[in-house]
Amino acid sequence: MRSCLVLVLLLCPPGVLAQVAPPSTERQKQLVHLVRQDCGSCHGMTLQGGLGPSLRPQALQDKSVDSLVATIYNGRPGTPMPPWRRFLSEAEVRWIVEQLQAGFPE
Ligand code: HEC
Repeated sequence: MRSCLVLVLLLCPPGVLAQVAPPSTERQKQLVHLVRQDCGSCHGMTLQGGLGPSLRPQALQDKSVDSLVATIYNGRPGTPMPPWRRFLSEAEVRWIVEQLQAGFPE
């Protein structure tokens, strides 16, 4: 039984399991607020950079979505960048990265 489940998981192409609905409109508002307040305390209130680097679209355009998601979700050990996995789901982090790369909503 157990090995059957493992096999099913292995056969799923990567991405299928990770595909989840984007956050609700209500949750999106909370996320925008969180990024401006909490991320802004290190990355600058306008996200132009501070203790942490700029999170403006120009700075993030060429970086891979997956690596940015990993940085936010897991933090960067040895740097002040903290992990956010206790507060945000991976889908929420992905949504934030997409917004940052496109130009973050006010
Ligand atoms: C306590 C300060 C602090 C907070 C709070 C913080 N960061 Fe960071 N962040 C940093 C630092 C410092 C770095 C640079 C790490 C390094 O030296 O690699 C960083 C790096 C990053 C990077 C990688 C940027 C790049 O160009 O590779 C992203 C993306 C990022 N942070 C997003 C966020 C988001 C989104 C939040 C809020 C959910 C957040 N950070 C909150 C300090 C912080």
